[in-house]
Amino acid sequence: MKELSLTKIKQTQEDKNRQIELTDSGVIPVHIAIIMDGNGRWAQSKGNIRLFGHKIGVDSVRDITEACAQLGVKFLTLYAFSTENWGRPSAEVRGLMRLLVSSLRKEADNLHRNNIRLVTIGQMDRFPDDCIKELDEAISLTEDNTGLELCLALSYSGRWDITEAVKKIAKHVEKGRLAPNLINDQMIGDHLSTASIPDPDLIIRTSGEYRISNFLLWQLAYSELYISELYWPDFRRNELYEAIHSFQKRDRRFGKVYKNKKDEISD
Ligand code: FPP
Repeated sequence: MKELSLTKIKQTQEDKNRQIELTDSGVIPVHIAIIMDGNGRWAQSKGNIRLFGHKIGVDSVRDITEACAQLGVKFLTLYAFSTENWGRPSAEVRGLMRLLVSSLRKEADNLHRNNIRLVTIGQMDRFPDDCIKELDEAISLTEDNTGLELCLALSYSGRWDITEAVKKIAKHVEKGRLAPNLINDQMIGDHLSTASIPDPDLIIRTSGEYRISNFLLWQLAYSELYISELYWPDFRRNELYEAIHSFQKRDRRFGKVYKNKKDEISD
């Protein structure tokens, strides 16, 4: 049996056993990205306002983050607020900002104690000052941590990310430092907001929708897709384990024909 990484998070024995089973049964994805969808519908199905769904959604964020840290996942990217979400009713946008601030206040120490590093991607300058302040504090508190990297995509969209990368590369061309025919996949990836981390191995979307919704458009090229029928507030670690179990059964060929790395090398 493989040893699970040490964490300071309390766990039931049953959950520990489930995680050991999972680490024994195959590869744990290095990078998991999640489109957390269905908060509003979950709340409405219970006769509640949409913001209640976002509030309970934070409990799912905590549970999934803890489970990923315990399993030894290296990167977890959560689509917490898309560029398009600015178009929601202003009361919902304000409520989401307040929730972000209060969650960070409550959770920053917990992230730190568990060796989790918080980072963000997206247009942070569009956020109110109190959000930026709270995020900056949590980011600096956790910056030297070496465990799970939790990346919140905030005011993020895949098209925005690619557009920004193209602008940066165009500047190199304009200044005469780069010939256009030298632009390649690697260079574009190196100019995206996720340049320092590997592409997601597994992308999970909740609420039974089969869409990418302008998330990590470039980075998801070869990610394995898992759709859960559950709304995000109901998506907890047992469903995450199902997603990872499904990932472990996939035959990732990256457009080639080999079944595993060994075959690739002998070809
Ligand atoms: C999608 O549900 C969810 C969001 C737009 C926001 C996700 C935010 C949270 C889980 C809470 C804050 C996050 C952090 C990291 C503290 P939806 O509103 O689109 O639901 P619907 O599709 O049913 O309308």
